[in-house]
Amino acid sequence: MQSKIFETKEATAAALAEQVIQLIQKANNKEINIALSGGSTPFIMFAVWADRHKTTVDWSRVHFYWVDERCVAPDDAESNFGNTQKNLFDQIPIPSENIHRVLGEAHPATEAKRYSTEIEENLPLFGGIPVFDIILLGMGDDGHTASIFPPMLHLLEARETVVVGENPYSGQQRITLSGPVINKAEYIFFLVTGAGKASVLESIFKQKPGAEKYPASHITDRAVWYLDADAAHHVAGE
Ligand code: 6PG
Repeated sequence: MQSKIFETKEATAAALAEQVIQLIQKANNKEINIALSGGSTPFIMFAVWADRHKTTVDWSRVHFYWVDERCVAPDDAESNFGNTQKNLFDQIPIPSENIHRVLGEAHPATEAKRYSTEIEENLPLFGGIPVFDIILLGMGDDGHTASIFPPMLHLLEARETVVVGENPYSGQQRITLSGPVINKAEYIFFLVTGAGKASVLESIFKQKPGAEKYPASHITDRAVWYLDADAAHHVAGE
């Protein structure tokens, strides 16, 4: 497992934000397809991109998709798209056609199919699986990642590009990339911060018995984990 550990949540998110910018810049004139996760941690990354990289990047080459989305309207406080629009897209010069939101307000099964098609039509395929350039993941205290929660480990092997998941605690339906698509990406980064995640991280990194119940443990070893000291309390970093 590859990890980079930083003192604070802010430093961790800023380091990953800069890593992504470097990859975009390195790709010269190529289009870059990035899939974002939701939750609160990415907001710091968005602030770094908005504050420091409005003009250092040709945002017209960058296409944003979502790793997962809550099945809510875009103006709902829970909407990953809505929060990204507020914290990032409103601050950078990115064409609206580069923003490929999940229609959280649509019927979940119908939207999973539609979003699968949108991704498959716009991304290169490898063995029939769409390949994102960069996938940014978080991890919940229960070891979920994307919207693949412990009771739905089978979504890690789903054949579809996008599937319907569910938050088992709230019953809220989710639209999420399936495991094979996540694991196929060129670059996969986790951004995990906070003491609440330390014990699950320890289980995953030390491959303790039972770690396989955590969906995040099934993400490829190619992933690079950006961790703050609190989350990495039991994990040796680089
Ligand atoms: C979501 C996310 C989810 C998130 C984790 C961590 O839509 O909620 O995609 O997988 O990454 O729950 O969330 P925090 O970064 O807020 O801890």
